[in-house]
Amino acid sequence: MPPVHEAAAQAQPNIALVKYWGKRDAALNLPAVGSISITLDGLWTRTRVRFDERLPQDRFVLDGRADEREAARVSRCLDLLRERAGVRWRADVVSRNNFPTAAGLASSASGFAALVTAAAAALGLPLSETEKSELARRASGSAARSIFGGYVEWAHGRRADGKDSVAQCLRAAADWPLRVVVAITSRAAKEVGSSAGMRRSAETSPYHAAWIAAQEDDLAAARSAIAARDFQRLAEVAEHSCLKMHALALAARPGLIYWNGTTVEALHRIRALRGSGVPVFFTVDAGPQVKAVCEPQAAETVRAALAATPGVLDVIECGLGAGARLIEAAALECAA
Ligand code: DP6
Repeated sequence: MPPVHEAAAQAQPNIALVKYWGKRDAALNLPAVGSISITLDGLWTRTRVRFDERLPQDRFVLDGRADEREAARVSRCLDLLRERAGVRWRADVVSRNNFPTAAGLASSASGFAALVTAAAAALGLPLSETEKSELARRASGSAARSIFGGYVEWAHGRRADGKDSVAQCLRAAADWPLRVVVAITSRAAKEVGSSAGMRRSAETSPYHAAWIAAQEDDLAAARSAIAARDFQRLAEVAEHSCLKMHALALAARPGLIYWNGTTVEALHRIRALRGSGVPVFFTVDAGPQVKAVCEPQAAETVRAALAATPGVLDVIECGLGAGARLIEAAALECAA
C-alpha cells in the first residue's frame, strides 16, 4: 500500500425550513427534534483529504489559512472514520468555501458533509449515504442533511446509540425547483454559535418544552406541503418554525438576539411581498442573514426588493442542489 490515500468531495449548505434547535444527547449529537431542510446549489465547500502514514498530526487549512479553532472538530470527525477503517494515519485537509464562513450560511453543514465524503473515499470505506449522514451528524447536526440533495428530513430517532437519527431525501430538487435569495446583513462572525445557543435555550428558556411538543405537527405539515408542492402551506409552517425558534432563543437567559435591524426590515419586506401575491417566505438561522425562499418566477422581484432594503450588504441567489459527492482533487486547486 502507498503511504498516501487521497480523495476530494463537494457538498452544499442547506437551510432548514423546520428547524433543528436543541439536543437530546450532546456526546452523540442527537437532536431534541427532527428537522426538514433544502440543500442549496451554487454555494459549496470543496475539501481534499490526504491521509499520510508519515504525518505526525492532522492539519486543517480553510480558505488558505490554518484554522486552529476548527481543527479539533475536524480531527474528532476523522477519528470516527479512522476507527472504522482500523488505521491511525493523520491527514492533511484542505477546504474551500465559495461563500463567507461563519456568517449564518451553514458552512459547518457543507464542511462536514464534504469532509466525511472525502475521508471515507480516501480510506476506501464503502459507506452508504445513511452511514455518512450519521458520521456527519456527529460533527455538526445540520451536516447530516447536506449528505442529501433537494428536500431532506433528518429524523429525531429513537435509539440511544443514534443509528436511526440520520437524514433522508424527501423529494428531489428538480421536482420542485424553488429559488433562495440570501440577504447578507452583516459580515461579522456570530457571537454565540448554534451549539452554545441551543444549550442556553434548553437550560433557561421557558418555551423549550413547548417548542419540542409542537415539532411533530410542524414536520407533518411541511412533509405534506412538500409532497403536494403547496407553496402557501410550506410558507406558513416554515415562517412559524423560524419565528418559534427565535422566540425560544430570545426568551433564554441572557436572551439570544441573532437579528439586527436590517434582518427585521427584510422580514417585513418579505411579508409585504407575500401579502401582495408574490410567492415568497423567509427563514433565519442562528445569525442575522435572511433567506427568502420563492418560486422561480418571483426570484427577480425578491432579489430587487432585498437589494433595495437599507442595510442589506449583498444578495446571493441560488437554486436547490444535489447532495455531497466526490470530485477530482484538481477541481479544488483551480476553484475560484
Ligand atoms: C439554526 O448544525 O450548526 O441552523 O449540531 O451544534 O453543530 P451543531 O449545530 P448546527 O445547528 C444548526 C441550527 C440552525 C437550524 C437548522 O439548521 O436546523
